[in-house]
Amino acid sequence: MRWWDIAPVLDLEHALFPDDAWSPGMFWSELAHARGPGATRHYTVAEDPVTGRIVGYAGLAALGDLADVQTIAVSRDAWGAGLGSELLTDLLKAATDFECATVLLEVRVDNARAQKLYERFGFEPIGFRRGYYQPGNIDALVMRLTLNEDLADTAPETGTE
Ligand SMILES: CC(C)(COP(=O)(O)OP(=O)(O)OC[C@H]1O[C@@H](n2cnc3c(N)ncnc32)[C@H](O)[C@@H]1OP(=O)(O)O)[C@@H](O)C(=O)NCCC(=O)NCCS
Repeated sequence: MRWWDIAPVLDLEHALFPDDAWSPGMFWSELAHARGPGATRHYTVAEDPVTGRIVGYAGLAALGDLADVQTIAVSRDAWGAGLGSELLTDLLKAATDFECATVLLEVRVDNARAQKLYERFGFEPIGFRRGYYQPGNIDALVMRLTLNEDLADTAPETGTE
């Protein structure tokens, strides 16, 4: 994802996350950390090969040996064709490149579709963050995937219950 992708990504963001869409500034800030030798972010977009339209996007933050899935989304008209899986595969490769041992993510407790995708990749539920999604006061399920057993600190994250 580059800065010129932000406008079409925001269109998808508002369609898919109407209650808590990221602002343009959040994407700009993330992309500012996605390039160069000290990069801590990896952001990618999926384009329709025929039209060039952006149909999905995803981002990951690396913090030491921990990676966090910041966002993942696919245009509703492209769901169920494997794009979400491709984007997640790309993020996990990036986590490996960042030499992260563990990948964490938060997902709404009522988002069964996304949870199923994560489970297929081996993510396991490790706790909840109460009222994480506002407005609506929706809880987040925290999920974890261990990429490198030898390096991973498998103690549950603090801040979860
Ligand atoms: C969650 C989300 C990213 C999944 O994207 P997706 O492109 O539909 O994901 P996939 O196609 O890879 O997998 C979804 C389903 O399609 C099926 N599928 C995968 N590849 C397929 C293929 N080639 N042909 C047919 N079906 C396929 C999968 O089996 C899966 O079905 P299942 O969930 O019943 O097992 C998407 O629904 C989305 O953007 N949701 C809104 C935003 C969101 O909630 N993001 C997550 C925030 S935590």
